[in-house]
Amino acid sequence: MPDINGFDLRNLPADFYANPFPYYAALQAQSALKRMPDGSILLTRYRDVEFVYKNPKIFSSDKKREFGEKFGLTPLFAHHTTSLVFNDPPLHTRIRRLINGALTPRAVAQIQPHLENWVDRLLDAMAVKKSADLIEDFAAAIPVEVVGNLLGVPRHERAPLRDWSLAILGALEPRLTPDAARRGNDAVREFEAYLEGLIDQRCAQSGQSDLISLLLHGEYAGQRLSGAELVHNCIFLLNAGHETTTNLIGNGLVALVEHPAQRERLIAEPDLIKSAIEEFLRFESPNQLGNRITAVPVELGGVALPAGTQITVCIGAANRDSEQFLEPDTLDVGRSPNRHLAFASGIHQCAGMGVARLEAEIAIDRFLRRFPSYSLAAAPTRGGRARFRGFLRVPCRL
Ligand code: HEM
Repeated sequence: MPDINGFDLRNLPADFYANPFPYYAALQAQSALKRMPDGSILLTRYRDVEFVYKNPKIFSSDKKREFGEKFGLTPLFAHHTTSLVFNDPPLHTRIRRLINGALTPRAVAQIQPHLENWVDRLLDAMAVKKSADLIEDFAAAIPVEVVGNLLGVPRHERAPLRDWSLAILGALEPRLTPDAARRGNDAVREFEAYLEGLIDQRCAQSGQSDLISLLLHGEYAGQRLSGAELVHNCIFLLNAGHETTTNLIGNGLVALVEHPAQRERLIAEPDLIKSAIEEFLRFESPNQLGNRITAVPVELGGVALPAGTQITVCIGAANRDSEQFLEPDTLDVGRSPNRHLAFASGIHQCAGMGVARLEAEIAIDRFLRRFPSYSLAAAPTRGGRARFRGFLRVPCRL
């Protein structure tokens, strides 16, 4: 077991990024709560993480105080404090209802034929090359197409989206470097300017059914989104669906290389694809950390916490908790039950999980059918982030 006495999310040991799971197991075994040097609390046990997600009146998502200290009055502050994920009701409810209306199961099912086509085109292009980078050539090219289509971003304007998204979400890492802050702020500015132009075009066109138009014209309780709410929540939607889904597909394909018996099983029984995706979400959760702040005093794990306590919930650890999952460190593509928390739970549970699941199912299923004996051509390069777990590069022989 690694030494976790001085464990600090803002100053993580170098080997944590490659394999955080021994740290999580040690933290879980030691106590329900781990106090960080900055006074915040880290939770790693499944039941506590679930309790936090299910009780939004006790554990607030409002980040104005935390981000005020972290970002100052910058574009990053304006962006992150206006997106629904970092707000409580009633602002959260207003935006969430509009987004839910646009991401119904029916709307998600409609993207399937184009998505299958797109994945096949990527596979064709890789087949010609014989070798490929699983992230650049495949995993990252899928969400940008899907979310770009959902919001109606013209294909030739999508090139900067991924870098903007990486820079804006990268600024949420527990430790913010000056360089990450600069890149994040630049990205928000450029993204805002781009979206304002796109929204102006949508204002001039009627009868469009993309997500931007639905948010632009939609009303909840007689209210429309303000200009800033619209821009920042469109940025959030474009970001939320990018890195996370790229990581799900990349993590899943690498996990199958590292667990050849599971790969053989999935190839022999392709109907397991749905449960396999749930298992990748559990085993290598793309989003490992979440944050809340206590709105009222609360007792957790026998410790009294005053209002205003910053909480980090560790999804990645909860999803490997042996109190909840049998043999949690074993990858089992047929695992059932599998009540993982990769999409969180409660009122903020991922609004795009239907889209993410469909993307991953189609991508991994079709990839395995086309390249059943793929292998790694070199060691994959990790993203080097604690919050978002994935790879930057995965050189692969097809
Ligand atoms: C594998 C892919 C994905 C993962 C692991 C993931 C994970 C999550 C998690 C953990 C949250 C809750 C955050 C919190 O409350 O602290 C969340 C929220 C959200 N996600 Fe996802 N997400 C994924 C893909 C997507 C996609 C594709 C979209 C959009 C098309 C999306 C849209 C959203 C939105 C709008 C929220 C905010 C919900 C709210 O605050 O009510 N996500 N996601």
